Amino acid sequence: MKILVTGVMGQLGHDVTEELEKHNIEYIGCDREEFDLTDKDATESFILENKPDGVIHCAAYTAVDKAEDEEELCRKINADGSLYIAEACEKIGAKMIYVSTDYVFGGDGEKPYEPADEKNPQNVYGRTKLEGEKNALENCSRTFIVRTSWVYGINGNNFVKTMRRLAETRDELNVVADQIGSPTYTRDLAKLLAEMIKTEKYGIYHATNEGFMSWAEFAENIMKKSGLSTKINYIPTSEYPVKAKRPLNSRLSKKCLIDNGFSLLPSQDDALERYIEELNK
Ligand SMILES: NC(=O)c1ccc[n+]([C@@H]2O[C@H](COP(=O)([O-])OP(=O)(O)OC[C@H]3O[C@@H](n4cnc5c(N)ncnc54)[C@H](OP(=O)(O)O)[C@@H]3O)[C@@H](O)[C@H]2O)c1
Repeated sequence: MKILVTGVMGQLGHDVTEELEKHNIEYIGCDREEFDLTDKDATESFILENKPDGVIHCAAYTAVDKAEDEEELCRKINADGSLYIAEACEKIGAKMIYVSTDYVFGGDGEKPYEPADEKNPQNVYGRTKLEGEKNALENCSRTFIVRTSWVYGINGNNFVKTMRRLAETRDELNVVADQIGSPTYTRDLAKLLAEMIKTEKYGIYHATNEGFMSWAEFAENIMKKSGLSTKINYIPTSEYPVKAKRPLNSRLSKKCLIDNGFSLLPSQDDALERYIEELNK
């Protein structure tokens, strides 16, 4: 089996290649150098020439606030780029995993979202990721959609690294306490994706580390596990203005994983502990 991974210079793609290596699965790691997702011909011909058995598509335009000003580029990468990948996969009979986001949902209420629940993205990034989902599902008959949330990994910038950096110079930090979701360690998600691509259990999944919390609670855990004493002040979203609107409820139900015989990801505590250990090395 040969797997093509996109976005290997990013957080998740990097860990996916490491995980495939552990499984002794041959892979081709790609990022902008191999092909730019906005280039239809380059994207298609790279896949057709390399003929992978599956594509784990981790590359995306992920700058959520900047996307509000760069809608066209964001759509070209997230929606159109994913279409080119799906079409190429279909031509060669390959499987495709499309990594998606909690931001496809509207964020009302407190109930964890099931995969088929109504979509109502609140920002450009969420809308283009949802378009990418549709393009993948409609154009590749062997598609897995895996929605995740609040991702952190070794290879890139994320909330954990930002909090630790800010804590070096600040005694107090204001962090949003009314957006609830699940942080996800890329290493744990990568493990699931490497398992999933070996199966034919196509469909829509949610995958995050176990447990729900607010950004403020997450920040407190980061301080505690990093041995830092910076105080976290709980603030409402209304006091932290950003360009892109975020859903308040980002809870995702993982029932679909259990129903299909996949293991749930480890708990938040366990994941953050391992991540911080890795960062401290
Ligand atoms: N980060 C989160 O909190 C989060 C939450 C939910 C879902 N997700 C989804 O999870 C997946 C992985 O996220 P991540 O945090 O690992 O992303 P990331 O660290 O931002 O990495 C994305 C990678 O895609 C590459 N890329 C962007 N535009 C490209 C293009 N036009 N052609 C080729 N490559 C391109 C980027 O290269 P450059 O750096 O050069 O742009 C980067 O290497 C994405 O599908 C994302 O939508 C992420």
